[in-house]
Amino acid sequence: MAENIIRAAIITASDKGSKGEREDLSGPAIQKIIEPKGYEVVEYKVVPDDFDILCKEIKRIADENIANVIFTTGGTGFSERDVTPEATRAVCARRVPGIPEAMRAYSMTITKRAMLSRAEAGIRKQTLVINMPGSPKAVTESLEYIIDELRHGIEILIGEASECARK
Ligand code: MTE
Repeated sequence: MAENIIRAAIITASDKGSKGEREDLSGPAIQKIIEPKGYEVVEYKVVPDDFDILCKEIKRIADENIANVIFTTGGTGFSERDVTPEATRAVCARRVPGIPEAMRAYSMTITKRAMLSRAEAGIRKQTLVINMPGSPKAVTESLEYIIDELRHGIEILIGEASECARK
């Protein structure tokens, strides 16, 4: 049986990117990994590192059921403007700590700087929100590690899978 298409949104948080001063390479890196896995990118936006804007975008996409999953990239580090995890926590009723824990655990085998990512994941209504780190390298390493297990969680979230037994 063919796999269901999963609707995905990509939000890049970048002050420079949103002003056209830096090309976003991380959003396209996400797209390149997820599309062959049966995800359709229904929305892609570059926004400033702004708490209110990030909250508004995540809420809109989840509340209007535009996407089953939102991948954010950027804004998980220590700079004062890095607020993507805070926005994610503010708008998600349920946290999903295992996803960023897995990304950090795997990434730590590549660079110990992975400990500096404050990424979160959470659920708002029927949409899963996952923070990815900001660089294309970090995004690719992290996402390739988690992508195959995400489908099962998303299918449970949207009611298309009900049990965890593996075929
Ligand atoms: N994870 C992987 N897999 N590979 C990396 O190179 N870089 C780290 C970390 N996670 C990295 C990684 C670094 S240097 C930082 S500062 C944090 O992600 C936060 O990144 P961000 O501020 O771009 O979101």
